Amino acid sequence: MTTRSEHLGAPAMRLILPLPGNETFARHLADEGGWELGAMETRRFPDGETYVRILSEVKDKVVDLVCTLARPDDGFLRLIFAADAARDLGARQVNLIAPYLSYMRQDRRFQPGEAVTSWSFARFVSSSFDRLLTVDPHLHRYPALSPLYTIPTDTLHAAPLLADWIAAEVDKPLIIGPDEESDQWVSAIAARIGAPYSVLQKTRHGDRNVEVRLPDLSRWRGLQPVLADDIASSGNTLIEAARQLPLQGFVRPVVAVVHAIFAEDSFQRLAPLCARVVSTDSVPHESNAVGLASLIARAIASAPDDEGDLIRHRRPPEPQDEVEQAGCHSFPASDPPS
Ligand code: R5P
Repeated sequence: MTTRSEHLGAPAMRLILPLPGNETFARHLADEGGWELGAMETRRFPDGETYVRILSEVKDKVVDLVCTLARPDDGFLRLIFAADAARDLGARQVNLIAPYLSYMRQDRRFQPGEAVTSWSFARFVSSSFDRLLTVDPHLHRYPALSPLYTIPTDTLHAAPLLADWIAAEVDKPLIIGPDEESDQWVSAIAARIGAPYSVLQKTRHGDRNVEVRLPDLSRWRGLQPVLADDIASSGNTLIEAARQLPLQGFVRPVVAVVHAIFAEDSFQRLAPLCARVVSTDSVPHESNAVGLASLIARAIASAPDDEGDLIRHRRPPEPQDEVEQAGCHSFPASDPPS
């Protein structure tokens, strides 16, 4: 009888090692691939510094640290310490599995003097890990992660999974993207399930202040609107879109997002406006309904596990002219200029 790992073609010596808060996702991943699940101990010293101890044997193994990067500022140093510890202890390869990748939106200088944090963050990650695997990173002005990250990256897409969920759960869906950038997700979802789709127009006035305008959607009245987006961050894009739809005679929308960040009380404000709100489990949240472990396990299993010159990749990227010399836009950080 073959094991699941043989079935997936996975390397024998792989350790899935969760950072705190990622244990459930890591267990699903390890189960999917038939891989060993590791453990670590972390705590704060009284002075606020971080203690990290890896409790599993990592020597000669491919170690996949599992850490979604929602609200990254509190735990990022801990993640880097764990990566360094795994390498010190003899891991053959140290990878980052980050179902949600943070710091993707401040990818240029919108106001004079701003830090381009996408760039800095990519440099930290590229200096500590051998590979990065993530799902639907917020790529707008960069076509791929490779201009930012010098290590090999795998970018997976959740749209087919969201599409399958919608096909199974929603009768007569009309897929709606809340802004032009969501076209890439809503068109993919609509094409997969043979549903119509439309995209709204959004203007962002500030971190929490967005204005959403609807085109005339009257020809689709009677269909169930499904708002689909990559990320609910402040949540206001979806809240504004959900508020507008009934004004054109639609029933309350279903919302389907990849990354359920839902800052502050945004979920509580959005939920009453919707028939249902669902998300993938890239970020643990009560709306999680679509699991990503199987998608990620397949990608891990097919990635090369022994690249001879990984050290060559693991270095800070060179400064990029395009970013360094970018002009300043008087536009807030979260979305691209119109
Ligand atoms: C924008 O380009 C994205 O696709 C999301 O619509 C946006 O980032 C959501 O942000 P928020 O939830 O803060 O409105």
